Amino acid sequence: MSTELINMDKIVSLCKQRGFVFPGSEIYGGLANTWDYGPLGVELKNNIQQEWWKYFVKSRGDMVGIDAAILMNPAVWKASGHVENFNDAQVDCKNCKARLRADHLIENAVKGLKVEGLSMEDLDKLIAENEIKCPKCGSQDFTPSRIFNLLFQTHIGPVAKDSEAVYLRGELAQSMFTNFKTVQQTTRKKIPFGIAQVGKVFRNEITPGNFIFRTLEFDLMEFEYFIEEKDWESTFDYWLEQMQQWLDHIGIDKSKTRVREHTKDELSHYSKKTVDIEFETPFGWKELYGCAYRTDFDLKNHTEKSGVDLNYTDPYTDRKFIPHVIEPTFGLSRTFLMVLLSAYTEEQIQDSEGNEEKRIVLKLNKKIAPYKAAVLPLTNKLNSQAEQVFNQLIKDFSVEFDISGSIGKRYRRQDEIGTPFCITFDFDSIDDNAVTVRDRDSMRQERIKITDLNNYLSDQLKK
Ligand code: GAP
Repeated sequence: MSTELINMDKIVSLCKQRGFVFPGSEIYGGLANTWDYGPLGVELKNNIQQEWWKYFVKSRGDMVGIDAAILMNPAVWKASGHVENFNDAQVDCKNCKARLRADHLIENAVKGLKVEGLSMEDLDKLIAENEIKCPKCGSQDFTPSRIFNLLFQTHIGPVAKDSEAVYLRGELAQSMFTNFKTVQQTTRKKIPFGIAQVGKVFRNEITPGNFIFRTLEFDLMEFEYFIEEKDWESTFDYWLEQMQQWLDHIGIDKSKTRVREHTKDELSHYSKKTVDIEFETPFGWKELYGCAYRTDFDLKNHTEKSGVDLNYTDPYTDRKFIPHVIEPTFGLSRTFLMVLLSAYTEEQIQDSEGNEEKRIVLKLNKKIAPYKAAVLPLTNKLNSQAEQVFNQLIKDFSVEFDISGSIGKRYRRQDEIGTPFCITFDFDSIDDNAVTVRDRDSMRQERIKITDLNNYLSDQLKK
């Protein structure tokens, strides 16, 4: 099914009803734009993350990982330029007090206009010239744009005013730079090599929204790949290509993606070239991933500001130089959403009496499906025998024992959560020691001996 036809409400509602993602702090009325991953969501997110780690770190000799602290010395964020440059322009509606990101306000009102990089005066001029209205109340009375820093501040120690402000990290990259020397020396890696990390990132976004697409805290997977300056273009092209291959690997509909290079005005303060991989969501073309050439900007600044020499010495030539960096970055929360948008399918099928009915099925890549199989006893009388099949499978796979509702209802539920195989234990199973295995996508059924079931599933899950 094409994403144009998918209503975001359907995804949000499926996520809530089936236990993928819930609104945060819901029993207290929620906290805007915070979301909690439920029992199936955490499995799907972990599976994506583990697959990414296997794909980009474990299966390569030129990559190592770290897991650094979220709180860092505030000097890091000054040296990195984030305190000065990690900003968005904000306007407030004077009538309803809505807080809005100036660039989003303009781009949503004047289709096709890109305004990244414009000065605040130019943004204000565009808002006035185009007679843009507040999306909440329709008023045209806005405050002038003002700078809003995206770093989240907090304080260490019980008395905020006595302590220095620290920042929750706004990107993972900085700890890969501050640990560059230690990691290189302890692993004895030679350039080119990369340092990877997965973790939480925090941004005080002015206008979060669209479910988990833009939130205040999110999960990121990224690596810094250290190279010699002369190799930057070929390395950039290589990683951009690898990022696109990953889309297929994880089950993101590539026909809904495109690459878009940042204009000069759009580039982050540290980047000489950035290419985004965008996805066509129900709310427009949006950034999914980015690949940036960060030059030697970060290591050079940290060398200057920390006083620690972050030069690398080539073991063959003894030449000392600050490495340059290519940075592929992958939003994990956005991957989660685009995987769901790619997998969500509505089909017309015929029920057992020949009546047309709608089937909703998440055609998730089998590798990342929360459950690989569900064991369904045909009736409650068969629960204890079916449970033995479940116990046999649970040692090797993530499996659910599903006993509530009719078989038809259980099939529908398993289809909606993307379980690749439903295994029905029926009255014949007692005599022939076999079960019926139903394939999620084709709905074809096959009779498989219980003793062969683990091998059968292993083989099928590799396909
Ligand atoms: N170290 C580079 C960096 O952080 P970025 O483009 O600012 O680059 C990286 O962010 C990725 O994080 C984006 O490509 C996107 O997938 C994801 N992302 C950015 N802001 C987000 C937000 N507010 N909520 C969810 N994901 C976000």
